[in-house]
Amino acid sequence: MCGIVGYIGKRDVAPLLLEGLQRLEYRGYDSAGVVVAGKSGGLKAVKAKGRVRELEARIPKRFAGTTGIAHTRWATHGAPSDENAHPHLDTEGKVAVVHNGIVDNAAELRAKLEADGVVFASETDTEVITHLVARSQAGSLEEKVREALKVIEGTYGIAVMHADFPDRIVVARNGSPVVLGIGEKEMFVASDVAALISHTRQVVTLDDGEMATLKADDFRTYTTSGTRTTATPETVEWEAASYDMGGHDTYMHKEISEQPDAVDRVLRGRIDDKFSTVHLGGLNLDAREARGIRRVKILGCGTSYHAGLIGASLIEGLARIPADSEPASEFRYRNPVVDPDTLYIAVSQSGETYDVLAAVQELKRKGARVLGVVNVVGSAIARETDGGVYVHAGPEVCVVSTKCFTNTVVSFALLALHLGRIRDLSVADGKRIIEGLRRLPEQIQEILAQEEDIAKLAAEYADAKSMMFIGRVRGYPVALEASLKLKEISYIHAEAYPASELKHGPLALIEPAMPTVAIVPDDSLLEKNRAAMEEIKARSGRILAVAHQEQAKADHTIVVPKNEDELDPILMGIPLQLLAYHTALALGRDIDKPRNLAKSVTVE
Ligand code: F6R
Repeated sequence: MCGIVGYIGKRDVAPLLLEGLQRLEYRGYDSAGVVVAGKSGGLKAVKAKGRVRELEARIPKRFAGTTGIAHTRWATHGAPSDENAHPHLDTEGKVAVVHNGIVDNAAELRAKLEADGVVFASETDTEVITHLVARSQAGSLEEKVREALKVIEGTYGIAVMHADFPDRIVVARNGSPVVLGIGEKEMFVASDVAALISHTRQVVTLDDGEMATLKADDFRTYTTSGTRTTATPETVEWEAASYDMGGHDTYMHKEISEQPDAVDRVLRGRIDDKFSTVHLGGLNLDAREARGIRRVKILGCGTSYHAGLIGASLIEGLARIPADSEPASEFRYRNPVVDPDTLYIAVSQSGETYDVLAAVQELKRKGARVLGVVNVVGSAIARETDGGVYVHAGPEVCVVSTKCFTNTVVSFALLALHLGRIRDLSVADGKRIIEGLRRLPEQIQEILAQEEDIAKLAAEYADAKSMMFIGRVRGYPVALEASLKLKEISYIHAEAYPASELKHGPLALIEPAMPTVAIVPDDSLLEKNRAAMEEIKARSGRILAVAHQEQAKADHTIVVPKNEDELDPILMGIPLQLLAYHTALALGRDIDKPRNLAKSVTVE
């Protein structure tokens, strides 16, 4: 989705802004633009539909300046075009605004401004902010922005420059992330630390309703009503190098390969062998409160929702608390009963997904206790929740999630073990799960070592127009996630069904042209899963099984190492990430940036 970068200091700003925009490319966008305060006063802007490199090609030789803001746009109001790309300037070219989010009352504000004679240059909602700032009679830029924000309804992360105030950039946040990067006599602003981390790791994350003024050697933060706030810079843990491709051809491949280390990291320092449990520092839930929980409701979107489904089965299995997972995007709209004895858990890689954030806010408004299982430290959802578990997957750049899915499920296993050991899980079972968790990194490595064979299988199935994924109970969320991964990056249609539901309808689809991927763990449902494969074979369907032993009924089997039954879904998902990856590769897809998708979905 949209991205913001800004800089004020002594360095030539255009190359810095372009580098920042490139760092944000992974989020998905369709156009980009940049504005710079020229040395002789006045603002100079360049915009381009398409990639950042197309913007770069348009930047004239004389584009010097040491203050500027830039943007990658993901179209919401108005098609991707040069005109609709940000920054948006007012008619006189004095005010420039870049904006992430949506102005809900843009149509109404636009009509009023047009009635007053303002001529709009784009179809965007953002341009109303520009004209409102430009028309304000207030004396300072801060006050002009504040006046504009007073009439705006919706979400925003904005950065504003004004030719009459060349010594500053004013930024504001409401529902869309804004991070300040604090340097030595230079300041950065971005919507994502990725854009500034190669220059400074000292950051200040604005809260909703907060604004900031950045000058080259100083910054200050205050609320939209003008009250000063205190902002102490924090150090970002992630290294700039973690955003590089590290010798891999794609980020997806890099991130799949990082999983043994990522799992090792999420376990590190958390296991307590003495009591066969784990320590989760930021949970903010004492033993008495944990014992009082009657239900767990997990909320997330897409892959995070799928991780939540496995999480729910881990919590129900190990802690014996009824648990389920639901798409956060649907939850709010069914006017859910919010129960004081239910523990709500919001799951998100980015910590920014609007639907999840809005569900958290709705729950908190109704007095619920909400924890987060989040990857990005200090993100909106991490800040909004009462406590939680950080997933420690490291930055995930590929649009589709892989290592973060795995680490999220492992985080749920830790949480389930913690809750279980406070309740009725025995020491022996606690020990069994801990030993299983410790085996995971090595077992993931064993699966990754099969990549060449999985690539051959992918080539074999890449001609499918559609694929079925089946699993039972713990295997079903694995099937759901694997089918999502395949469709997202290969564009092959894929459906996931509980294997038990086949004969209630989807069996009608089975024919040689529709292969099935079957999740077949060695557990109490092994024979049932074999029976489902029989049914498919009887209809001449091709079967690729992911199992703990060769499956006679399958045309091919990917054999994965066995762990504890509860933890098997973690391992069974990994070869299917590779299957999706190699299928997409065989079909020549843009793996890291699948069409129509964005990394963080910060709008509804
Ligand atoms: C799929 C994928 C998406 C995200 C979803 C939620 O590969 O990445 O389905 O899982 O958009 O994103 P987060 O986890 O950032 O809230």
